[in-house]
Amino acid sequence: MKISKVSQEVNNSANQDREQFSIDVLTGFCSTPKNLSAKYFYDDIGSELFQKITQHEDYYPTRIEFQILEKIKNNIPKIIASKEVDIIELGAGDGHKSQLILDGFLDNGIKVNFYPIDISEKAMHLLEKTIRPHKNLEIHGVVGEYFEGLRFVRGKSSNPELVLFLGSNIGNFDRVQNQGFLRKLWKILDDGDFALVGFDLKKNVDIMIAAYNDSAGYTKAFNLNLLRRINTELGGNFDLEKFEHFGTYNPVKGGMESYLLSTEKQNVYISDLQRSFFFDKMEPLHLEYSFKFLESDIDFLSEQTGFDVIQHFTDDRNYFVDSLWKVKKK
Ligand SMILES: C[S@@+](CC[C@H](N)C(=O)[O-])C[C@H]1O[C@@H](n2cnc3c(N)ncnc32)[C@H](O)[C@@H]1O
Repeated sequence: MKISKVSQEVNNSANQDREQFSIDVLTGFCSTPKNLSAKYFYDDIGSELFQKITQHEDYYPTRIEFQILEKIKNNIPKIIASKEVDIIELGAGDGHKSQLILDGFLDNGIKVNFYPIDISEKAMHLLEKTIRPHKNLEIHGVVGEYFEGLRFVRGKSSNPELVLFLGSNIGNFDRVQNQGFLRKLWKILDDGDFALVGFDLKKNVDIMIAAYNDSAGYTKAFNLNLLRRINTELGGNFDLEKFEHFGTYNPVKGGMESYLLSTEKQNVYISDLQRSFFFDKMEPLHLEYSFKFLESDIDFLSEQTGFDVIQHFTDDRNYFVDSLWKVKKK
């Protein structure tokens, strides 16, 4: 498997990544409430912790999406109906879901060029270990941001393209950003290309709360890892013992929200920024949204962004939907 690092080719230095990280920390910590971009979750430690979260019984989305993909993996090649296909996966993670989709095509004798894209190099190495080689499978992994990766790999052939955006990653964007993201995707793709997008559906609050507060404490460790990153990469002096994880459902916004709460009044110094930040007792640091959807939201999103819904694939309990869309330009 070949792996390209587009962010380094584009930015040409790890220093620029660090500078961007410090700017984002500064901007986030000067906002009210304080916040930090979720894209910084996935360093090597974060990617390994995320893998543990997905394997925990409280975290239903991965388990349920697996069941759906297992059920539909032979349907998708029939719908796309081509002897060769380019599959581009945005935020591929450890590749366990990708393998199911690839199996569907390969078992049906279809040649696949697979382009997993992930901001995390660690995730790409986990994926490399997961995906089984096959004579009809070419893999070219890309370490980089979604769209810089997509632009890098697109149009290498005239095969139909299938973009995978699984795991309800779309739920990390708010309800305005998600339209911007999908419209940008539409713009890059050609008429008749496909996208399979995973959406976590609205459901009983206790089930969602448990998923984002797993009993093993992996989610807590995953969130605290952001503070550890600031300590090691930007010279911060966060005491991780003085923050607690808080994951809750906001029924007005229709999504899960993740926070770290400062358990006492404290000042934290960040040497790269040459300044300290005051955290009041129980002050929240907002880390992530995971918006939840109704099937009508999914129809609305596809309509607004220029895709035709081919089919919503769901599970027995209607917990999750993988929705297959086709790009409509004519
Ligand atoms: C929630 S995980 C989902 C992984 C996998 N798709 C799944 O469904 O299990 C999100 C993945 O997207 C990657 N990611 C997050 N933000 C990204 C970005 N801006 N560009 C590229 N990858 C990103 C992370 O490194 C992580 O592997």
